[in-house]
Amino acid sequence: MKQFDLKDPIFTKLSEAAALLEMDTYIVGGYVRDLFLGRESKDIDFVCVGSGIELAKKTAELLNPKLKVNYFKNFGTAQFVYHGLDLEFVGARKESYQRNSRNPIVEEGSLEDDQNRRDFTINAMAISLNKATYGEILDPFGGKKDLENKLIRTPLDPNITFSDDPLRMLRAIRFATQLNFSIDPKSIQAIKDNAHRISIISQERITTELNKIMLSPKPSVGFILLDETKLLPLIFKELSELKGVEYVKQKGHKDNFYHSLQVLDNLAENSDNLWLRWAALLHDIGKPKSKRFEENVGWTFHGHEVIGERMTKSIFTNLKLPLNKELKYVQKLVKMHLRPIPIAKDSISDSAVRRLLFDAGDDVDDLMLLCEADITSKNEEKVKRILKNFKIVRQKLKEIEEKDHIRNFEPPISGELIMATYGLKPCREIGLIKNHIKEAILEGEIANNEEEALSLMRKIATDLGLKELN
Ligand code: CTP
Repeated sequence: MKQFDLKDPIFTKLSEAAALLEMDTYIVGGYVRDLFLGRESKDIDFVCVGSGIELAKKTAELLNPKLKVNYFKNFGTAQFVYHGLDLEFVGARKESYQRNSRNPIVEEGSLEDDQNRRDFTINAMAISLNKATYGEILDPFGGKKDLENKLIRTPLDPNITFSDDPLRMLRAIRFATQLNFSIDPKSIQAIKDNAHRISIISQERITTELNKIMLSPKPSVGFILLDETKLLPLIFKELSELKGVEYVKQKGHKDNFYHSLQVLDNLAENSDNLWLRWAALLHDIGKPKSKRFEENVGWTFHGHEVIGERMTKSIFTNLKLPLNKELKYVQKLVKMHLRPIPIAKDSISDSAVRRLLFDAGDDVDDLMLLCEADITSKNEEKVKRILKNFKIVRQKLKEIEEKDHIRNFEPPISGELIMATYGLKPCREIGLIKNHIKEAILEGEIANNEEEALSLMRKIATDLGLKELN
């Protein structure tokens, strides 16, 4: 258990403020859960029987009168930051509690009412900050035991808890994935029964949970639960369409849903980069649309990487994921995910490596991580062999980069220089010359330097009938 100091001024001053205002006050929610789990938390929730705003103001005054308290009268909540911790105050209520809820408080309640309307037993524990019972744990639903048994369970009938806030169905799956817990069978059944109600939840809240699943140690756990509970087709149709194996003449292809999840898990072992994880999940998303059965060949998925690149954009748009550099990065990796494979298989030519470096640029290391994660064969020998080949590709990438500096390729001579040398206005010939030089560098016909590029420029210009100005 992490160090918990009840002598910390946050708690002692809060307790003092609560006594002055004659309000019962408790630490609740995620902080108490994370305390038992030994996880760091950046925010602490306090609930009091009375006005959370009054309590926040009084506590801030006692801690440091200069502190600025933010409060929302309609919602009865207040917040301030102290020593990097986000302290949140709320009055106990009878109706469902959700942080960031847009619903004003309707009816004040007791601590018990408040605990009843929280999402899971592990999130409904409280620690008293009242003088007489200071530091005592109030755990009416056995949250501590559920933590020990690694179980996500609702305090009330799950149908009530989930209908109070259907996002909690996703939160259950997210916590199970983050913490490696299982979900109580009654709650699983209730998710199945209430799955359709996810439609009333905003996309932003859904996507926040999806990203938390993505960033978990083994994200597949969450997607498999989403599939089992029938939430997946409702919130991420394209992913659920990867499911299944089709047979023609007894020949099947692999199930791309489980394959993609395996790739995601493999990658998660080596990278915490959320967007690289998205690329892993989406790398084969274009397969259902490109699937064909060809006589004498079997199942093919020609062009799935290009279809996938396009689908990535519509998925990011629908899920309200960021549409700027993050989307471009994921699209690039989805499109390029097959590129290193032939290089690993054939005897590796320098020009193929240079082209890969040129096209991938600074994302080449991430692309290699994705390709390595994409090896999901059960045949260990085969996996070892391919990994060994990829190691050679990586070595080659390093050598060629050191020699030719292709990763951040800048043409060694500019269009301006070409124009000045031949007295040209912007025209097609300039593009032709520049492209020719770039190709010659990538093919290894000339080195990536100004001297060799100038000499090639002169040769091409002569062929084009251009005359140098004196
Ligand atoms: N809560 C709830 N229902 C929700 C959201 C939150 O009952 N839909 C309650 C839970 O008691 C939760 C607390 O509000 O512990 C704080 O919510 P939040 O900060 O969203 O979650 P944490 O539990 O702190 O976890 P995390 O920070 O990982 O989201």
